[in-house]
Amino acid sequence: MQQNFKRVEASQVVISELMLPSHSNFNGKIHGGYILSLLDQIAFACASKHSGAYCVTASVDTVDFLKPIEIGELVTMKASVNYVGRSSMVIGIRVESENIQTGDIKHCNSSYFTMVAKEKDGSSIEVPGLILNSNDEIRRFAKSIKRKNMKDHRIKEFHETDFASEKYLHILEDHKAKIELDS
Ligand SMILES: CC(C)(COP(=O)(O)OP(=O)(O)OC[C@H]1O[C@@H](n2cnc3c(N)ncnc32)[C@H](O)[C@@H]1OP(=O)(O)O)[C@@H](O)C(=O)NCCC(=O)NCCS
Repeated sequence: MQQNFKRVEASQVVISELMLPSHSNFNGKIHGGYILSLLDQIAFACASKHSGAYCVTASVDTVDFLKPIEIGELVTMKASVNYVGRSSMVIGIRVESENIQTGDIKHCNSSYFTMVAKEKDGSSIEVPGLILNSNDEIRRFAKSIKRKNMKDHRIKEFHETDFASEKYLHILEDHKAKIELDS
């Protein structure tokens, strides 16, 4: 069967939004939850464009807020498909915020959303492959594979039924933890 492949640029999505006072937290900075909601929307748009299907968010791999975003700044998010599996896609998103008076731009966040393409009946469906056109695209695809393998390893190691506390006691020695078992 001939497989369908698409270029990364065919599904790239960029959104820009001015940060309003209504988006701020008690500290006067932009609320992290608002940024997360925008990230989810752009990941959805990018994954839907690549797959041509309805997509759901399966997981989010690290959202580090590197710098605070101020009211009045222009936030730009750039999303592209970094990796595809059978029905899953990793969408890499870079968030930058610009002071529109000075033109200063800061990198605020990079995160990776795993989206899964679905049929109307809820079953997952196969998505097109990815044509990699640059070293950056190759690097992102390879890094996604590494990240996925690391996650699989972590899930296995931390699985509740296999987790043996005794194996980890030595790790706690240098940390702020006092062990006072009840029994
Ligand atoms: C995520 C979800 C689609 C997985 O469904 P599932 O029946 O377990 O599907 P499958 O086992 O066939 O897996 C489908 C794909 O999802 C991937 N996947 C499943 N769970 C995952 C997770 N936690 N993280 C990353 N990828 C995941 C699988 O690796 C697989 O990828 P592949 O097809 O590229 O190999 C399902 O659990 C779901 O619908 N979750 C709710 C999603 C949602 O509502 N999101 C909004 C949050 S409110």
